[in-house]
Amino acid sequence: MALLLDTRLLLRKVKDLRCLTPRRTRVKEKWAVTRTKHPPTSLALQHFDSTYSVQLCQLWPSVRAALLSEKKYGALLNNFCHDAVVANLEAQGCRDFLSDTDTEAQPSSEQESEVAADEEASGDSTPKKSDIDGQQLPPLHLSPHIKCFVFPRGDITRFKPARPDMCGLLGYYLMDAASLLPCLALDVQEGHNVLDLCAAPGGKTLALLQTQAIGFLCLNDSSVSRTLRLRKVLNSYVPKPLLTDDKLRITSFDGTKWGEIERNTFDRVLVDVPCTTDRHSLMEDDNNIFSKIRTGERRKLPQLQLELLMAGIEAACPSGEILYSTCTLSQTQNQSVVEQAIYLARENHGIQLQVVDLRPLTHMCRKTFHFAPDLHLGEMVIPHLASNFGPIYMCKLRRLT
Ligand SMILES: C[S@@+](CC[C@H](N)C(=O)[O-])C[C@H]1O[C@@H](n2cnc3c(N)ncnc32)[C@H](O)[C@@H]1O
Repeated sequence: MALLLDTRLLLRKVKDLRCLTPRRTRVKEKWAVTRTKHPPTSLALQHFDSTYSVQLCQLWPSVRAALLSEKKYGALLNNFCHDAVVANLEAQGCRDFLSDTDTEAQPSSEQESEVAADEEASGDSTPKKSDIDGQQLPPLHLSPHIKCFVFPRGDITRFKPARPDMCGLLGYYLMDAASLLPCLALDVQEGHNVLDLCAAPGGKTLALLQTQAIGFLCLNDSSVSRTLRLRKVLNSYVPKPLLTDDKLRITSFDGTKWGEIERNTFDRVLVDVPCTTDRHSLMEDDNNIFSKIRTGERRKLPQLQLELLMAGIEAACPSGEILYSTCTLSQTQNQSVVEQAIYLARENHGIQLQVVDLRPLTHMCRKTFHFAPDLHLGEMVIPHLASNFGPIYMCKLRRLT
């Protein structure tokens, strides 16, 4: 009996492999040392689960699944490259989503007046889409020079890296295709003086330059290192003669102070603000705004966004247009910021703003993107497993005074 007990004890010890390793050479398993108890990606998911389940209600489980899955890219065509890139992309099964838009059956004025009547009945005074241009939707003008290739719905094939042509310029820039929508919505016209207040690393800048319509382009980003990246991107895509001082200026100022530097100047202002970058925050622990040490920075985001938007509004000329955009689903960083800016511009600066209806654009692109339904201010691409772009929020304001 005693022998049996001893054997069992021995077996248990043998099972515990650590007993076979001399104590001095034992090493703690690496994960126990380096893995954080609460990685930022988990904190982000917890935060999104609590806020977006309330904000997006029954849409949240589908959006959540898409956000946690592989994202889709678009290839912004570089018109300055000499290679026959289009044929190559088409041979791979991609299409330019802007040539394949839905121009029929735009939302009718009847539909609009129904919405208007509902809002009147509710007595709500927040700016609404139907308050905008009475019964008529504004005509849609899109630059014919912006082309972005995407694989069909449900197809998440990856693009090959772009190759340089004989001048060293790359054929396309890979980006979230939904990021193009703010650039299209900005509607740059011939000779316009344009400010891109938070421009780095430069995807939207490149799209704006593809229009070949800009008179003078002012590019700014407060981060010096990111401004260097922006310069590299420009050098890889744009011919040197188009990057001269008489056509383009690059600065690294704090954008919130722009209103003090240059007021009432620009025809178009893009305010693509720093935000919680929802998709990145769920996927990458590095440089994650949900890491504990960045909690203060994250909480201050809506205030920074508001200050940047206010600076953009002041920088625009009367009748100029401002496009506010983010890559978060957060109402606090999207609609609330725009609402406060409209109020503050009127109260503190005597600037009246009109919200521009972007439904003609979203209607045109509805085959490619999923848009959030019933947003009272602005438009938002929401991620969907069959078309995993976004999130991108955008709201366009026009200065009346
Ligand atoms: C969403 S990213 C812009 C992306 C860029 N528009 C693009 O399409 O590639 C936001 C940028 O805002 C910059 N930023 C943050 N605070 C800023 C400030 N106070 N003034 C100007 N830029 C700022 C960040 O460095 C970051 O590059």
